[in-house]
Amino acid sequence: MSNKATSIHGLWTSRWAFILAATGSAVGLGNIWKFPYITGENGGGAFVLVYLACIVIIGIPIMMTEVLLGRRGRSTPINAMKRLAVEAGAHKAWQIIGWSGMLAGFLILSFYSVIAGWALSYILATVSGTFADASPEVVGEHFGALLGSPGSLLFWHTLFMVMTIVVVLRGVEHGLEKAVRFLMPTLFILLLVMVGYSMSMGEFMRGVEFLFKPDFDKITQEGILIAMGHAFFTLSLGMGAIMIYGAYLPENTSIAKTSIVIAGADTLVALLAGLAIFPIVFSNGLEPGAGPGLIFQTLPIAFGQMPGGLFFGTLFFILLSFAAWTSAISLIEPAVTWLVERGFTRMKASVLAGAITWVFGIGTILSFNLMSDVKIFDKTFFDLLDYLTANIMLPLGGFAMAIFAAWLMPRIVTKDELGMGDGPGYAIWSFLVKYITPIGVIFVFLYAIGLIGEK
Ligand code: TRP
Repeated sequence: MSNKATSIHGLWTSRWAFILAATGSAVGLGNIWKFPYITGENGGGAFVLVYLACIVIIGIPIMMTEVLLGRRGRSTPINAMKRLAVEAGAHKAWQIIGWSGMLAGFLILSFYSVIAGWALSYILATVSGTFADASPEVVGEHFGALLGSPGSLLFWHTLFMVMTIVVVLRGVEHGLEKAVRFLMPTLFILLLVMVGYSMSMGEFMRGVEFLFKPDFDKITQEGILIAMGHAFFTLSLGMGAIMIYGAYLPENTSIAKTSIVIAGADTLVALLAGLAIFPIVFSNGLEPGAGPGLIFQTLPIAFGQMPGGLFFGTLFFILLSFAAWTSAISLIEPAVTWLVERGFTRMKASVLAGAITWVFGIGTILSFNLMSDVKIFDKTFFDLLDYLTANIMLPLGGFAMAIFAAWLMPRIVTKDELGMGDGPGYAIWSFLVKYITPIGVIFVFLYAIGLIGEK
């Protein structure tokens, strides 16, 4: 009777399973590693405010859209978009959303895995007592030595990729649910402990002010673009990861509520990470704009001083690696399932996708040492990859999804999928996705390249 497609990859066992998997995808290095360092680089409060605004008016509506597209299409992003385009009487070229998403996921994972490797290596460093009573200089030197060694970086990157592929080839449903259910709350509590410790530091209020007191003189035009890009990155939006998880979502689950819960949890984790880190930065006279090494150069100082630091520090880097792991799985899942739909076995598909990503990751490794002077557009290979994916590819992907869902899909279909009845919910979503999100993305692009707004 129904003309709705059904998923060939099975369904989540419940709404909670989906929430856990999507939260596992969203919460990762983006929250704990990237958010603090880009906030530091972009002057603090004003950047945070723009980021929060982007989460609410762009991120949540796009997340709803992505889940909706996934559940309706019940397939990998490429095939889902093809199917939906046919259903909506639109051109098949809309499947390009799926293609570019797959490419973005692969590019992101190639550097994500290298950074996750840092976290893995810090488990070992912390548990072996490297940071006990270490001064900021010692901690900084340890980090410098890691970055300076392509061999160690390659080792940890390889280990992380292997860990990721092992889960992916068994199928996402196995084990992931249970692990996320247990480890995410633990990570959350540990962050609270660290914020508690930061509160005992002299400069706690300076950290709070840095994060929450907006000073719009400190944010640049480019900073606005980075804040928007990060809203996409941190919520895993714009490349089909959430779409593919949505494809396994049972009917009659509220997409709106679910999206808000996921975005809320993700944002909370990022803010807690910021609250834990900046007081340490200021109390030790460190530089908030230190760049990608920020958390690796600050948190170990605190772990070295606090009571039980060896335990908490080790646990922290274990949980951080775990959070990165559940995100990495979602970055590669679209490519793997697509290969599976083309007839590859899950085993072959996972190994192939993993191997290509691994090779590409070597570029990121070298950009921290041997090739740190090689710059394109004034950026290293790693910076360029990060910039291109988070600030350009993901927002463009989200933009296209918004246009497709709001302007081309029949209202009756989107309304049915969102299942919000005749209340204001649907009207708000529709307004945001039809106008605000696309205009917002375009506006930020034009503003960043200086075509609009004052110089
Ligand atoms: N959101 C994850 C993080 O914050 C990273 C991530 C996982 C991601 N899947 C994604 C980013 C898909 C963009 C698109 O660490």
